[in-house]
Parts: sequence; C-alpha cells; structure tokens
Amino acid sequence: MPRILFSSQEKGGVGKTLIVRALAEAVEGAPIIEIDASHRLLELEARVSFFQMRADREAIERTGGRAARAEFDAVLEALSKATLPTIVDVGANTSVSLFTMLADVAPELAAEFAVCVVVTNEPGAMVETPRLLALAKPWTAARFVVENRLHGNVDPKWLKAKAGDATVSSLEAQSLEDGAEGYLQAGGLAIVDQLNPNKLREAHGIGPGLRIRRDLAKFRLEAMRAVKPAAEWLVG
Ligand SMILES: Nc1ncnc2c1ncn2[C@@H]1O[C@H](COP(=O)(O)OP(=O)(O)OP(=O)(O)O)[C@@H](O)[C@H]1O
Ligand SMILES: [Mg+2]
Repeated sequence: MPRILFSSQEKGGVGKTLIVRALAEAVEGAPIIEIDASHRLLELEARVSFFQMRADREAIERTGGRAARAEFDAVLEALSKATLPTIVDVGANTSVSLFTMLADVAPELAAEFAVCVVVTNEPGAMVETPRLLALAKPWTAARFVVENRLHGNVDPKWLKAKAGDATVSSLEAQSLEDGAEGYLQAGGLAIVDQLNPNKLREAHGIGPGLRIRRDLAKFRLEAMRAVKPAAEWLVG
C-alpha cells in the first residue's frame, strides 16, 4: 500500500510548504499533491498535481462544509490513484475540513496515511495543533510534529504534552544572507544544489556569493533533518 503524508496546519505562514519542499528533497521522485488557493510549488514541475481551493472559510461554514467537500472530490480521486509514497501540501484553513472528510473515507482507500503538523510559537498555530492531531488519529498510522522555531521556541513542556504520541522534531529559524531569499522564492529548496558558484560570485561578489550558497545549503540540510522521521516513514 502506498504511504501518503499530509503537511498540515490551519494557521498560515508556519512552514507547511517548506516542509513539503524538504520532503521532496528527501524522498526523491515522490509525487506531490498541492491543495491550496494558488499554485506555489512551481519548481517541482511535473511532480506536482495542484488542486485549487476556491471556497473560503465563510463559504465552507455557510454551506455546512458542502463547498469544501465538492472541491475535495478531485483530491480524493488523486489519493485513490496513488501508487508511490506521496506528499500532500494542505493549504491554510483547509486541514480541518479535509481531515474530517478523510476520517470517513480513508478506510475505503488502499493507502496508509500520516500527518505532519507544523507548529510555530504563535497562539493560532498552537491552538490548532492538538485539534489536528486528534482529528487525524483515527485514520493515520503515524503522526509527526515539526516545531518550526521561525517565531522562537515553542514551550517544550507544552510541546511534549500536546504532541502526545507524535514524533517531534525541530527546525531553527534560518538567517539568510541578503539576496539568498530571492533564490528560495524562485526555486525552493530544489534550486540549492543547482546554484552556480561562479554566477553567484559575479552577481553578488565573492563574500556574499559564498555566504548565499552556504546559508541556502544549511537551510536545505536543516529542513531535511527536521523532516527525517516523516521521510523515513514515507519510504518505510
Ligand atoms: N525555519 C525557518 N527559517 C527561516 N524561514 C523560514 C523557516 N520556515 C519557513 N520559513 C519561510 O517562511 C515563509 C513561509 O513558509 P511557507 O510558505 O512554507 O508557510 P506555509 O505554512 O506553507 O504558508 P501558507 O499557509 O501560506 O501556505 C517562507 O518564505 C519560508 O521560506
Ligand atoms: Mg503553503
């Protein structure tokens, strides 16, 4: 049975897509399903199947979840056709309705599921974390939490208590040399190994060019380290 892992968090901007990018680096060739309002994982090209979520939260609530369910039907088809370890990027404000539906449907699908909930030190993300883990528990074989220290450390006592039986790993906030962010925006983590040292040097000078390369390589490696337990589950 193929293994399918959802990168999840209701709160926006916590690093869900970064985690997907790190998993895509760690699990070579794994297909990716992107469920979001707009297509971001452009650099992964044909590996990505994009499913656009148009229904906003207000529409979902007004229709008792019907607006979201209609959009999830295409996602379900894709999940049912998976044959390889598959990584799913679940956009903000989408996990609760998706997981609620999967609780019903997952037993019908010939696949094993796991979730990776990304948590930052922000009230919105912290409130949603135990809720998402609880929603996922009945139909997932494994659960992971990545503490993304983007906004400082999450209280370790809180993390231990709320993560329950999930495997926890942490990612430090990465600081990047001026100019490095642009490469990340353009090509995600996949671009890091393709950067040409001579071109960087020409564009930024020797010192900054070196630091850009070094910072991006460190970012990629640390993100891959943070997703290692989830990546091992995917290919296990
Ligand atoms: N540990 C970190 N250090 C530095 N930058 C980070 C870190 N984690 C994430 N980022 C950056 O923060 C931004 C938001 O991350 P990302 O897009 O992965 O979040 P998201 O949860 O997918 O957002 P959305 O809810 O909009 O889909 C990106 O520019 C990403 O590169
Ligand atoms: Mg995202």
